[in-house]
Amino acid sequence: MIAPLDTLYRLIQPMMFRVDAERAHDLVGTVLAACPPAWLRWLTGAGIVPDPVLSIEVAGLAFSHPFGIAAGFDKQARLIHACGALGVSHVEIGTVTPRAQPGNPRPRMFRIPRDHAVINRLGFNSVGAAVVAGTLHRARHRQTLQLPRIGVNIGKNRDTPLERACDDYLIAFDALASDADYIAVNISSPNTPGLRQLHERAALRTLLDALIERRRHLPRHVPLFLKVSPDERDAQLRQVVDVALDSGIDGLIATNTTLARDGLSVPVNHAGGLSGRPLRARARRTIAVLATMTEGRVPIIGVGGVDDAASAYAHIRAGAHLVQCYTGLIYQGPGLPTRLVRDLAGLLRADGFSTLREAIGVDRERWS
Ligand SMILES: Cc1cc2nc3c(=O)[nH]c(=O)nc-3n(C[C@H](O)[C@H](O)[C@H](O)COP(=O)(O)O)c2cc1C
Repeated sequence: MIAPLDTLYRLIQPMMFRVDAERAHDLVGTVLAACPPAWLRWLTGAGIVPDPVLSIEVAGLAFSHPFGIAAGFDKQARLIHACGALGVSHVEIGTVTPRAQPGNPRPRMFRIPRDHAVINRLGFNSVGAAVVAGTLHRARHRQTLQLPRIGVNIGKNRDTPLERACDDYLIAFDALASDADYIAVNISSPNTPGLRQLHERAALRTLLDALIERRRHLPRHVPLFLKVSPDERDAQLRQVVDVALDSGIDGLIATNTTLARDGLSVPVNHAGGLSGRPLRARARRTIAVLATMTEGRVPIIGVGGVDDAASAYAHIRAGAHLVQCYTGLIYQGPGLPTRLVRDLAGLLRADGFSTLREAIGVDRERWS
């Protein structure tokens, strides 16, 4: 069955694709934020209870199904209710920086329709941790509506020197952790100069130890996930895994956007991080490598090129416990979560799995 919103999206997509990508995203955000969640549920066909085969517990949190929205889609925490109404189990807001900053000059987000891809160099445009914390807190305390699980992705300000990066993450953590289901530590955006150097052993150790220590002061356990780049060599990923496991991190998110340009059917000149279908194989390989290295000791959240149930399922079979997407929503529209969740249950059952967990990592050797 095609939901009414899918039909509408197919009609308006050609017009939207004539508008600058970031502006189109802002327009969609304004409409989603204004639309009553009950309408969205009706329009997308969401609201149907997901097949129990899809339920999973990750880092002590129960998820009704594995599919969520990746960081970058809702940087200000103003679309949480709308995302929930679209049928996702979780949304990762952010990246949020401690102080407000504008990001890079526009234009800074580019669609590549022929490859179902996007290149962005937004550069952590953020309204700052205090504003997001206020919005998040109000969303949490609106009793009338069901919320999806909320992850908060944190990063550093561009003008903070790398040696002081840790202070920035702690400020953002302090402001946001109490209303988050989990915190994602973003060390992998390619658009903040030097950020990816935090994959190095000593810097990562200092950062994670400081965050884990700070977490001890919270009244409940807030899982910390580390979001990694798809562009690291295996030896570097090994170091990341060693430090992450040793420090007590609760999970890994693989991956952020890539600086590579393989998988594009024609060369594209824009600088920035590439996402969508051309990232899919690279992300899947990183998921599988991390799954092998961690030996199931921490969950992996798979992101990169997911735009239907088959691509989500393949990430799960490579080793992902949860899956997220952003670019897929731009090309497939707001009906994607409902369709994906329904079809994923069918794929699992067709392969004879009675729980999602049984399927996690069954193909990891093939991909790593
Ligand atoms: C426009 C845009 C903005 C993004 N902003 C962020 C961000 O602020 N923080 C982050 O960790 N990832 C960010 N990402 C990366 C996504 O969360 C995701 O890791 C990546 O796009 C791969 O998934 P996809 O192929 O489903 O888009 C952004 C991606 C896009 C396309």
